[in-house]
Amino acid sequence: MSPHIKGNKKSPGHPLPDSPFMKACRMEPAPFTPVWLMRQAGRYMKEYREMRAKHPFAEMCRRPELATEAAVVAARKLQVDAAILFSDLLVVCAPMGFPVRYLEGRGPVITRPLQKPSEVSRVRTHPQKGEFDYIYKAVRMTRAGLPGNIPLIGFAGAPFTLASYLIEGGGSRNYVRTKAFMYADPGAWDELMKKITSVVAPFLRGQAAAGAQVLQVFDSWAGCLSPDDYRRFVLPHTARLIRALGNSVPVIHFGTGSAHLIELLEEAGGDVIGVDWKLRLDGARKRLGRVAVQGNLDPVALFAPRREMRGFAREVLQQAGHQPGHIFNLGHGILPRTPEDNVRALIDAVHELSAKR
Ligand code: CP3
Repeated sequence: MSPHIKGNKKSPGHPLPDSPFMKACRMEPAPFTPVWLMRQAGRYMKEYREMRAKHPFAEMCRRPELATEAAVVAARKLQVDAAILFSDLLVVCAPMGFPVRYLEGRGPVITRPLQKPSEVSRVRTHPQKGEFDYIYKAVRMTRAGLPGNIPLIGFAGAPFTLASYLIEGGGSRNYVRTKAFMYADPGAWDELMKKITSVVAPFLRGQAAAGAQVLQVFDSWAGCLSPDDYRRFVLPHTARLIRALGNSVPVIHFGTGSAHLIELLEEAGGDVIGVDWKLRLDGARKRLGRVAVQGNLDPVALFAPRREMRGFAREVLQQAGHQPGHIFNLGHGILPRTPEDNVRALIDAVHELSAKR
């Protein structure tokens, strides 16, 4: 294992009550605004690219010692206030009967996607025993490699985003197949969403049991839905998933392009609602009840001159009102060619500009 990784062996699942990040999840005052960045372990970072030169992405997810190194090195280098497990949204697909290949430059591809509602029976809901053990091992090793006051975020995809991958076989512009599927056969759609939820709920609980202090549910593609379709076809399932996680760890519920849906995301559940940059945070706060918010700098702001970028970060903090219950993040993942120095400068700027004196 890399010499970078020598952490403190705090017991798994320790709630870390004093961490500014955990305080923000609970809407308690913190000495500064905690910050982490989606995709903080990714291609913009030199150490990550060096690892990737030696190992394909799927292998990095599969081998706990590599996943641990990627997550821990990024968290230490950036001095962020939380680490996220190194893994992928789509690790649940193969155990459900849909193997995924990661093609260079094209992203993930499912070779034989779900083509029609009558095929829902192809979706397996009882992964073999121990199928996710390698993930739980990565959670335990990452937890052990992190400083004791830095929480580890476990994660999974929300039912809609995973369903759209199973149906589209990859990314999509208009989600035509997914929507056509749910409109054509709401009963089969319901069954598909239930099947996915029955795999994802124990998977997330397993990550918490292995030591993840927080769980994030990514509904990355829900923003393509109208509010009425979200309410009818998605909300009940995501709500059931989040309820099934219980109250033992805070849940961050994140959607991209979901400015028109945030009240519905809140209704579906979560202690923290993640929002992207298409929405002002002060506006988001007004529309939400008593939940914390996460976000929402445009990832492209990191390509701006340093002074401008700092101004954008200050603006996000101001819109959050310097109130308890804000976790600073980007509105979506860091982009591959982002200048690394700017990423570090952003973390420092958030800490400095938000420090309570
Ligand atoms: O630092 C982190 O955030 C850690 C882990 C993480 C990854 N993927 C690693 C990854 C997380 C939380 C994810 C979630 C994920 N994966 C999402 C939801 C987040 C979002 O972006 O909305 C989605 C949609 C996926 C599926 C996925 N995986 C896509 C679409 C791609 C290709 C896009 C791209 O950036 O290449 C991946 C690959 C992937 N997942 C990479 C990483 C670091 C890049 C792999 C590489 O090195 O080539």
